[in-house]
Amino acid sequence: MIEEERMKMIMDHYENPRNFGPLENPTVILRGGNPNCGDEINIYIHMDGGNLIEDISFDGAGCTISQASTSFLTEFLKGKTVSQLEELDSDYLRELLGKDIMITRPKCSRLALETLKAWARCFQMGKTS
Ligand code: FES
Repeated sequence: MIEEERMKMIMDHYENPRNFGPLENPTVILRGGNPNCGDEINIYIHMDGGNLIEDISFDGAGCTISQASTSFLTEFLKGKTVSQLEELDSDYLRELLGKDIMITRPKCSRLALETLKAWARCFQMGKTS
């Protein structure tokens, strides 16, 4: 992806975030934050009773990169399984955000992914529903 297209896409997800706002009946609510800047995200998930993420949304306030990457991830994860979430690594975000942003803004880039993956580990161990 060329840099100009990438920046346009990031700004579009920041200004028009996908899946924004709480779900009506989430089965899971996750809170993530970056203590260095105070930015926060809430992620709402509706599970199907098994391993499938039926619906997912988010809200919060934060920098362009943290909000855009959360928006990307909610789009990707809707209809996916927790196992697919566990398999997701930084390569997915690197493809979307670009290597430079991943290096210079690691905490912003990975805020949502790390919040989700920490939950996925607990979910698979049966510690949360
Ligand atoms: Fe706070 Fe990016 S500056 S998450």
